[in-house]
Amino acid sequence: MSLTNKILINTQPHLEYLGEKISIIGAGMVGMASAVSILNRRVTKNLVLVDAFGDKVKGEVLDLQHGALFLKHPIISGGNDYEATKGSKLYIITAGVRQIPGESRLNLTQRNADIMVKLVPELMKHSPDALILMVGNPCDVMTYVAWKASGLPTHKVIGAGTTLDSARFKVNLAKKLNINPEDIHAWIIGEHGDHSIALWSSINLSGMRLQHINQQIGTVEDSEDWIQCHKEVVGAAQAIQELKGYTNWGIGMSVAVMAKAIISNELNVFPVSVNAKGKYGIQDDVYIPLPAVLGCNGITDIVDLHLSEKELTALQNTAKVMKEVQDGVNL
Ligand code: 2OP
Repeated sequence: MSLTNKILINTQPHLEYLGEKISIIGAGMVGMASAVSILNRRVTKNLVLVDAFGDKVKGEVLDLQHGALFLKHPIISGGNDYEATKGSKLYIITAGVRQIPGESRLNLTQRNADIMVKLVPELMKHSPDALILMVGNPCDVMTYVAWKASGLPTHKVIGAGTTLDSARFKVNLAKKLNINPEDIHAWIIGEHGDHSIALWSSINLSGMRLQHINQQIGTVEDSEDWIQCHKEVVGAAQAIQELKGYTNWGIGMSVAVMAKAIISNELNVFPVSVNAKGKYGIQDDVYIPLPAVLGCNGITDIVDLHLSEKELTALQNTAKVMKEVQDGVNL
């Protein structure tokens, strides 16, 4: 009799707990920041990591497994084969090339689209009912590409959108107000990138709209220069890339809160990339970030924002830019 059987009197078979499997595709800096954030938030107890570089991903899996003691004993697995993702509830796609300092996210479009059109159908073979959270850049266009390649209904293909941009924006606003960023309600929509739009008309603290107090807020005429809070968001990624070569922690943490809302059906509102067709005068299948309700059925509702004339025009212009980029992609 083995030591185990001497020390433990087994009375029932152990069932394999599969939980809500999340598969992260791409074990680079963003993929790993997402994985650690997801595990630390207890989003799932069944995490799979897949990357083309087999040794790298196997090393990451082993490394994370050694932290399992601190993570309530999750299943962490992976490799360079999509088979391991079978039965996933959620795919988080971080794979793809990333910007070099000074490069726009939109410069990555065709290279990453070429990756997605091969990758996404493979994933759907293993988990046809999964939801997709697209993180790779340019995120909004890649969400469109993933939607086209997946054959899924639009509500099941979600882009990380401007969740991180809005978080950066709230942090900047909160610094000026000297409060916790959790308590300022502020949205950035339109594009996770250079064409993002700050909704100055609706920013509020406990329901008190900042524009009601300072009508110039968000304009160059504003003597308090609040507009800088948005300018820094647009330049944030590049500023970090110039310092450390890439960004990963902010996007990884934002991915984890979105994944939690999906897996636990928390029905939080995030400015995720959604198919905006039929909203705000947009007639095309174009994916742009808008505040939407996120749960286990993906995107169930899109907030009908009361935009100022200036904001509506900016959104429609951004949608035109994104449509042109989408139309330029060879799928
Ligand atoms: C970011 O905004 C690079 O899109 C990534 O951090």
